[in-house]
Amino acid sequence: MQSGLLNDTRYRTTTAREFNYLTAEYEMKWGAIEATRGDNNFAAGDDIVSFAASQGMDVKGHTLLWHQSVPSWVSALSAADLRDALAAHIRAVAGHFRGRVHAWDVVNEAVSDDGAGLRDTLFRQKLGDGYIAEAFRLAREADPSALLFYNDYGGEGSGAKSDRIYDLLRNLLAAGVPVDGVGLQMHVSANNRPSDAAIAANMRRLADLGLRIHISEMDVKVNGVAGSVDQKLEAQKSAYKSVVAICVAEPRCEAVTFWGVSDAHTWLTGETPLLFDAQYAPKPAYTGVLDALRRR
Ligand code: XIL
Repeated sequence: MQSGLLNDTRYRTTTAREFNYLTAEYEMKWGAIEATRGDNNFAAGDDIVSFAASQGMDVKGHTLLWHQSVPSWVSALSAADLRDALAAHIRAVAGHFRGRVHAWDVVNEAVSDDGAGLRDTLFRQKLGDGYIAEAFRLAREADPSALLFYNDYGGEGSGAKSDRIYDLLRNLLAAGVPVDGVGLQMHVSANNRPSDAAIAANMRRLADLGLRIHISEMDVKVNGVAGSVDQKLEAQKSAYKSVVAICVAEPRCEAVTFWGVSDAHTWLTGETPLLFDAQYAPKPAYTGVLDALRRR
């Protein structure tokens, strides 16, 4: 959800009609909230929470700790000061939305793309690998009722990154860190995505750790698909249908979130990756999702 689009009637009515769980696309990121140290601006995030409440929808907060959208002042801090600032940030933000969000993406994208280990972020460099556990503990303290998620991309199927994400979560849980679930972002391409079998098996092993699973940011790029526009849209439909069906079949998979509503507003410019076209008409992908939800 983008709060700035709530004044757009087609965006608002489509969102209200079709969905029951909203994630803030950028409004709750550190850089959006605290551009000036100590001066937290919650207005845009509050708009999303109010809209959701008015429609009886749940909200997932996104995200307390990410290596992107970090305020510029953060990079100059000493290790000790960074630890204080991060703790203050998590306490302030999770505290502000306490009781009003169903879940939080506490830590986002902390595993390196090659799957060799943790991503070498500012936080890891200055605070050490324990920063992830610290963040979850702070979040639990600040909002004991929110479900706490680790969220990442590129670990949906099999491979080194998927294995590292699994190891990270297993180790956190073994250490008693309060992690309730894992978000599989699912930014995929219609012609290039993990196999259904790999996604299902990965969900199962994560579920076996006791975690809840969300597909958290799904969109499906089409430009790599050869052929006509219709062929691209059919391939996209097939990807959406298959992936949503895997979630429906997995008892611990509780939600599917799409990274936007219509192709008019997407971070993947020109890829027409979403369920509704730029005029808010449902695409074949939309029918595919419905088919999967109805197990057809
Ligand atoms: C993206 C948003 O869609 C953009 O509007 C913003 O400028 C940058 O971030 N993984 C995530 C999301 O967890 O927060 C990112 O969202 C997309 C990749």
